[in-house]
Amino acid sequence: MIRNPVTETVIGGRPCHIGTLGPAARHAVLALQEEGIGDLMFPISPAEVDHMLTDQGGRIVGAEVQGRLAAFFAILLPGRSPDNLGRDDGLPEEALDHVAHWTAVIVRPDLRGHGLQRRLMAATLEAVLPPPRVRHWFATARVENAASVRSFLSAGLRIVKVGPKYDGHDRYLFRQDFPVTADAHHREHAFP
Ligand SMILES: CC(C)(COP(=O)(O)OP(=O)(O)OC[C@H]1O[C@@H](n2cnc3c(N)ncnc32)[C@H](O)[C@@H]1OP(=O)(O)O)[C@@H](O)C(=O)NCCC(=O)NCCS
Repeated sequence: MIRNPVTETVIGGRPCHIGTLGPAARHAVLALQEEGIGDLMFPISPAEVDHMLTDQGGRIVGAEVQGRLAAFFAILLPGRSPDNLGRDDGLPEEALDHVAHWTAVIVRPDLRGHGLQRRLMAATLEAVLPPPRVRHWFATARVENAASVRSFLSAGLRIVKVGPKYDGHDRYLFRQDFPVTADAHHREHAFP
């Protein structure tokens, strides 16, 4: 199911493979969303899933345990679209090209409590969309979504705003910046 492996870890004593997902994972992603979404997340549509699984405008990073999808994190590269969360925090137009959104994350209910959200984020930053390809990461989470809020904060994002967003519920807007260093500039040119 994992198309491009990134790393391996252990979850609840079982090997867990983390990497990017491709079109073959479509059914598993949508089924996991249906099983695990709960009532605190704004769902992603099948069309958005297709878009991200083909690396157009995003990626989906997944974790596989015993041959089944254990978790996924959908990442959107919004470009200069009106929905770019950088606009909510006053980023200048040219910086919007370097924005990514942590868009939708779901961990299978029986595998929660092992920090998989944070592990998917770490794998993404390390090997899927490392800086400087992405310089500004944004995310939103319902203020009452304690597990997700805590995961974003402990991954290093900070809260820059709070207020109604999407379906009118109060959400935190999180942001994390990766300044461009000379070394990172060099890697940008090496990035495929
Ligand atoms: C959000 C979600 C992905 C997190 O799953 P996870 O990575 O297994 O999260 P964990 O259970 O390991 O919790 C992460 C942290 O939050 C803490 N936490 C979990 N539930 C909590 C609660 N009710 N109150 C306070 N803290 C809580 C954990 O102790 C952990 O903290 P630590 O890192 O200091 O140990 C998962 O709950 C989920 O799939 N929810 C449904 C979909 C959803 O709401 N997605 C998020 C949309 S923004």
